[in-house]
Amino acid sequence: MKLSIIGTGYVGLVQGACFADSGNTVICMDVDEKKINGLKKGVIPIYEPGLEEMVRRNAQDGRLLFTTNLKTAVENSKVLFLCLPTPQLEDGSADLSRVLSVSEKLAVFINEDKLLVSKSTVPVGTVDKIKQVVRKKTKYDVEVVSNPEFLKEGTAIQDSLKPERIIIGTRNKKAIEVLKDLYAPFVRTGNPILLMSERSAEMTKYAANAFLATKISFMNELSNLCETVGADIDWVRKGIGSDPRIGNQFLFAGVGYGGSCFPKDVKALVRTSQEVNGDLKILKAVDEVNERQKRLLVRKLEHYYKGQLKNKIIVLWGLSFKPQTDDMREAPSLVIMNALLEAGAHVRAHDPIALTRAKALFPKKVEFFENCYDALKGGEALLIITEWNEFRRPDFPRMKSLMKTPVIFDGRNIYDPKTLKEAGFIYFGMGRKAE
Ligand SMILES: NC(=O)c1ccc[n+]([C@@H]2O[C@H](COP(=O)([O-])OP(=O)(O)OC[C@H]3O[C@@H](n4cnc5c(N)ncnc54)[C@H](O)[C@@H]3O)[C@@H](O)[C@H]2O)c1
Repeated sequence: MKLSIIGTGYVGLVQGACFADSGNTVICMDVDEKKINGLKKGVIPIYEPGLEEMVRRNAQDGRLLFTTNLKTAVENSKVLFLCLPTPQLEDGSADLSRVLSVSEKLAVFINEDKLLVSKSTVPVGTVDKIKQVVRKKTKYDVEVVSNPEFLKEGTAIQDSLKPERIIIGTRNKKAIEVLKDLYAPFVRTGNPILLMSERSAEMTKYAANAFLATKISFMNELSNLCETVGADIDWVRKGIGSDPRIGNQFLFAGVGYGGSCFPKDVKALVRTSQEVNGDLKILKAVDEVNERQKRLLVRKLEHYYKGQLKNKIIVLWGLSFKPQTDDMREAPSLVIMNALLEAGAHVRAHDPIALTRAKALFPKKVEFFENCYDALKGGEALLIITEWNEFRRPDFPRMKSLMKTPVIFDGRNIYDPKTLKEAGFIYFGMGRKAE
């Protein structure tokens, strides 16, 4: 099949590579010339395990092409995927300006009947809006479908090659056949392709992210109560997670959720309800709890140092919003670093992959280190922000010898409190004061 991807970011590049890998010819289009020129030379703009090799191989075999020319992308493909950003506007709603303006622009280049597939996360009713702007500009038959994306950064290739489900939002038979055929190689083990209306598909994406964010905020709020009443959230997690009705995933207490999806999608869904005079009380609380949680480690640190963080050397391990990605969008580390700088602390930070992106956001104010032990020198507290694997079994005696004060605030509960105490550290976890 001849496909085009409009918007070659985290979603577009991964999807484009995976579609090319199953034999399709894919043109990845983007307005970012630097990105496209880099991709043409094999430079991958994001860190995603397995992506570089897949992009290079398919580009070399001529199945994966890159362009900044929208006309070329439209004219040479039968199916077009919109993978454009839908960031948050000031009132919390999703910014549809790129999705709608690009749809209008591309419609002019349509030279035969085509399928336009929206992979961007968009509020209910957006596909109808896309249909309107496109159909005004072309005489050809263009079906517009909602096909929300569920990949997770860090495991995006695996998620795309073996998706838990594919959601196709359309009642158009021809569109269903084309997309079923395209996705067939990815659902050979029987994972479902679910057919529903455009609006239900659009809502499903928001419902999934909102539910996952709810789990996180629920556990974070409970972990704070555990700490106050002398329970351990880690035991509570195991205790409830073994109930299949609850499930054992996404129950870890932490420093709050971040990334390019949960924060904006929760807010956008709240906004959607307000637009129809609704009031999603649970999701408003989810967002509020998350905002508070992102500041919790700094509050704990202030409490420990009796409000005196001025000139204290504070070390952060982990900056990306989660492990296995370099994505810094809405990362809790940003809030934490800003709060520490405001309090007058010296911030030293390390991340295995996200340093370049972090440096661009904090020029000069934060000292960044390629090596996690170098970052520790003279540290008066270490904050674990992102649970990268390499932080799980570090050389504790070496860490202790490097730090001025061996204090650890473990924002991800990756260490055993007893082991740390025995190694001579003053240890604070999340919701596990008791044991
Ligand atoms: N990142 C994720 O994990 C994820 C997962 C599921 C769904 N989504 C959704 O998918 C959509 C895309 O997310 P992303 O993370 O890939 O965003 P991204 O910012 O990484 O990528 C978007 C790309 O679109 C390009 N672009 C912007 N304006 C353009 C235009 N006018 N023409 C062509 N290209 C243009 C940008 O240069 C960028 O490369 C969003 O709606 C997001 O909510 C993201």
